[in-house]
Amino acid sequence: MMKEQYSQLFKELELKNNMKIKNRIVMAPMTNYASNEDGTVSDMEINYYTRRSGGVGIVVTACTYVTANGKGFPGEFAGDSDEMIPGLRRLAEAIQGQGAKAVLQIFHGGRSCPPELVHGDVVSASAVASAEQPDVLPRSLSDSEIEDIIRDFGETTRRAIEAGYDGVEIHGANGYLIQQFFSPHSNTREDRWGGSVDKRMAFPLAVVNEVKRVAAEHAKAPFMIGYRFSPEEATTPGITMDDTLKLVDTLADQGLDYLHVSLMDYRSKPREGADNSKTRLEWIVDAVQGRVPVIGVGSVHTPDEAVEVLQTGAELVALGRELIMEPDWVSKVADGRESEIKTTLSKQDQELLVIPDLLWHYIMERTGWFPVDA
Ligand SMILES: Cc1cc2nc3c(=O)[nH]c(=O)nc-3n(C[C@H](O)[C@H](O)[C@H](O)COP(=O)(O)O)c2cc1C
Repeated sequence: MMKEQYSQLFKELELKNNMKIKNRIVMAPMTNYASNEDGTVSDMEINYYTRRSGGVGIVVTACTYVTANGKGFPGEFAGDSDEMIPGLRRLAEAIQGQGAKAVLQIFHGGRSCPPELVHGDVVSASAVASAEQPDVLPRSLSDSEIEDIIRDFGETTRRAIEAGYDGVEIHGANGYLIQQFFSPHSNTREDRWGGSVDKRMAFPLAVVNEVKRVAAEHAKAPFMIGYRFSPEEATTPGITMDDTLKLVDTLADQGLDYLHVSLMDYRSKPREGADNSKTRLEWIVDAVQGRVPVIGVGSVHTPDEAVEVLQTGAELVALGRELIMEPDWVSKVADGRESEIKTTLSKQDQELLVIPDLLWHYIMERTGWFPVDA
């Protein structure tokens, strides 16, 4: 039997659009590097999601690119043409078949795209290289190319609706194109897309408006729209907490269904732009003031930690790495078997846990990312 102290994790949540989420647990979006060469969803991905969708209220998929020069990862699935709809539908049905809402994360990698994945056409807000790819100087997008990409986010939203998803999440986090427009590091434009913090918000808001417009036009059933953002950047100049609190304050009035912060640790404190009397997540929840549900995330492994996230005032809590290591997390908590939750990865468990090869390879190679048993 479930322990009383975890019951709040299992309380239904009703979104503004009347959609009911059966509990407070979300599977965080995680790239799995396993799509087919042509960008279609693979059987392996279907199996990986089927294994993890039983229990959680919402599954946010790995990101999908909205246009060819936005592909950020090998084995990333495509959302940029109507031919992809049947595969996208299989994925939505696999997730929904296990009882979770399926949300497609829509993305453009901008300057973070490996040149070989975008045939050399690496683009961004401005011609400023990232710290991660210092040798790759992106090309600054023209005004009409920016308009095209905004429409591409809308087109992928239409495909998500046609493929039967319950919603889309706009990927404005982790240093990719939407964040590149918001960041004073990557956006040095002096036109309507850059300058003051308000002007740096122009592209993110234009994407939000286009996605909302397309959903209003095409969705026949309630369709959720979420927005994900990273609160701070490590560079100077870079996004600081005060920029983010302004963005959050604006996003909270856009009629979105949720805001999703991207954090590696939900307990982390601000670096710059807000004092460290509160965590980043607490600052964000306080700025939102209940206008829209917030998803907290980052190093949640135990149900006590998940409850702690909800206690900040966030309505939902996302689990990423933990659901890779423990696909049965939710049912174990529901059954009072939380002591059986696995919080480390054994080197023998790739097949048992249905983890695609390239994802497994990166997990094993990148030390410190996942807790791997010796
Ligand atoms: C393998 C892997 C792939 C990820 N891919 C994405 C992604 O496609 N989109 C995204 O917004 N975040 C991505 N993330 C970040 C996670 O959504 C999450 O914010 C982060 O892992 C911290 O949560 P956790 O401690 O529960 O894993 C990824 C994380 C991992 C581990």
